[in-house]
Amino acid sequence: MAKRKPKKKKMKGIILAGGTATRLFPLTATTSKQLLPIYDRQMIFYPLNILIKAGIREILIIVAPEHSGQFLNLLGSIFEKYNIHLEFKVQKVPKGLADAFIAGEDFIDNDNVAMILGDNIFEDSARLARDIKLFKKGGIIFAKEVPDPERFGIVEFDKNGKVISIEEKPEKPKSHYCVTGIYVYDHNVAKIAKKLSPSERGEIEVTDINKKYLKMGKLAVNKIKGAWLDAGTFDSLLEAGNIVKEKKIYRDFDPIINKAIKEFNKELKILAKKRLA
Ligand code: G1P
Repeated sequence: MAKRKPKKKKMKGIILAGGTATRLFPLTATTSKQLLPIYDRQMIFYPLNILIKAGIREILIIVAPEHSGQFLNLLGSIFEKYNIHLEFKVQKVPKGLADAFIAGEDFIDNDNVAMILGDNIFEDSARLARDIKLFKKGGIIFAKEVPDPERFGIVEFDKNGKVISIEEKPEKPKSHYCVTGIYVYDHNVAKIAKKLSPSERGEIEVTDINKKYLKMGKLAVNKIKGAWLDAGTFDSLLEAGNIVKEKKIYRDFDPIINKAIKEFNKELKILAKKRLA
């Protein structure tokens, strides 16, 4: 009997959009950080754009309980006709970035997964989408030079560009290359995440996952170009919107996202008219 070919692994997506974002109070007393505007659309569309551009059609969005209804109102049905399936998972208490893979274990199943932090905005979405598409095995993370490496996960390279170490928020950073908020792994990631112990800040760290893949010789670190923004403070939120406008990053959305938003806006306008009538 002919041997059956092993099923080709899919790439799935996770967006981490939980958390309380206390640095943005009172804005985040009434809505989720990832639903705040960056120029002409909600922040969540930026990570969604990278996943959709990468051809991913199954996406899990992890949200805080108090905002789950708002996420559903915005995203609950707008991608249905484009064959993009969104799932939502409520995370009562944020336990660290690595917890996304435990919360998403059943969703990931035996497939690969790209996880993006819901407040990260990347200028070069096309390059990231391409790298996600090209993923084969192990893990890929994306590094960017920053002026303040103490605040991040930091990658050390040798003179041939080989990765030597990764450290979370080191006091004495060995380089200025920071791990940005987009992570791609094979299906083993959930198993690895489940074995982690919490760090000093009481969270399970995605840096510890990266260290495991590095130790196994299965981690690729791609250096990225272009702006990388997070929107965690008033200033960085404002700056993110301004940079998106100045650099015309809003032009880089996948046509599916633009069409879905347009259709949704049309529906909203019809409803608004009915209310006024
Ligand atoms: C987290 C990660 C860190 C990474 C950063 C990217 O930091 O722990 O390794 O460099 O995201 O934004 P946190 O935002 O939890 O301080």
